[in-house]
Amino acid sequence: MSTSSSGLGAFPNVRMRRNRAHSWSRRLVRENALSPNDLIWPLFIIDGESQRQAVSSMPGVERLSIDLIVKAAGDAKALGIPAIAVFPNTAPADKTPDAKEALNADNMVCRAVRAIKDAHGDDIGVICDVALDPYNSDGHDGLVRDGKILNDETVDVLCQQAIVQARAGCDVLAPSDMMDGRIKSIREALDAEGFQNVQLMSYAAKYASGFYGPFRDAVGSGGVLTGDKKTYQMDPANSDEALREVALDIAEGADMLIVKPGMPYLDILRRVKDAFAMPTYAYQVSGEYAMIEAAAQNGWLNGEAAMMESLMAFKRAGADGVLSYYAPRAARLLNDT
Ligand code: PBG
Repeated sequence: MSTSSSGLGAFPNVRMRRNRAHSWSRRLVRENALSPNDLIWPLFIIDGESQRQAVSSMPGVERLSIDLIVKAAGDAKALGIPAIAVFPNTAPADKTPDAKEALNADNMVCRAVRAIKDAHGDDIGVICDVALDPYNSDGHDGLVRDGKILNDETVDVLCQQAIVQARAGCDVLAPSDMMDGRIKSIREALDAEGFQNVQLMSYAAKYASGFYGPFRDAVGSGGVLTGDKKTYQMDPANSDEALREVALDIAEGADMLIVKPGMPYLDILRRVKDAFAMPTYAYQVSGEYAMIEAAAQNGWLNGEAAMMESLMAFKRAGADGVLSYYAPRAARLLNDT
C-alpha cells in the first residue's frame, strides 16, 4: 500500500507523530491490549513440604513443593490469571523405559492437581501436560524401542495418562508430545470415561527447538535425553506444515491450540490465527525467558520493558493468550498501572 497514491494523504498534511504526542492519545489509538486474563503461568513441582529450589538457567523461577504450588495458584487467582500449567520434576528413581509413573494416580502432578482443586475449586483453571518425557528414562515424549519413538503405542499410554489426570481434577489437558492422531484418541478415551467437558489444548505446532533447554533443566529431563526430538517435533524451517498439523488437531477435536516456541514463531502464530480463528496461545518458552533475564541481569536491556513488549507482541500477532514464566510479574505490573 502506498500512502500517497491510496488517498490516505502525505506529508506535510499527514504527520504520524501527532497521534503519538501524548500518553492519552497513544492510549486512544492503541490497537492491542494485554491483560492478566491473557496469561497462563507454568509451574514446576517438586516433592516435599515448604520446598523451593531455584532453577539456575531461569533466574526468578523456582520449583515448588505442592503446598507452595497451592499458594502460587492462590496468587495467580488474586492477580486475575485464569489458569496455571503444572510440570513435575520427577525423581530419577521414578523414571523408567515404560514411563509408568505417568499412570500413577498418586504421582506428583495428580497430587498437586487435587490439592489445587481442593483449595481453589473452579476459581483457577489447571492445565496438565500430556507427554511422557518427565517419566521416561530416556527423556523422550514417547516410548522408545530400538532408538525409534513409537507412535501408536505411545498414544495408548497418553490416553491412560489423560484419564489419570482428568480423574485427579485437571480442567485442561495439553498434549505436548507431537504424536500423530493423539488428539482424536485422547478425546475418545476421555469421553468414554465421562470426561466430555475436559478441554484439550493441543500443542499443535510445536517445533524441535533449541529454546527448550532451561525447561529440561527445570523438570530434570535434559540430562537423560538421548538424541533429539526431530522425528516428532516440527522442523523450524517449515510453515505450511504447521497449518496441516493444526487442521488435523482441530478435526480431531482440539478446543484450543498452542504454537511453540513463541517469539521466533510469530509468523506461524499469525498464519494459524488467520486460517482457523481458533482460540490460539503462544508459549513463550524457557529459553526465551532465560535470554531476556540474562540480558537484564547484565544490565544490557531493561528487563521489565522487554518482558511487556514480548508479551504484547504475541497479542499483536494474533494470540488469545500466552503461556509465560512472566505471568505473575506481568500481571502484577498490569494491575498496578
Ligand atoms: C515436553 C515439554 C517441553 C516443554 C513443554 N512440554 C520440552 C520439550 O519438548 O522438550 C517446553 C517448555 C519450555 O521450554 O518452557 N513435553
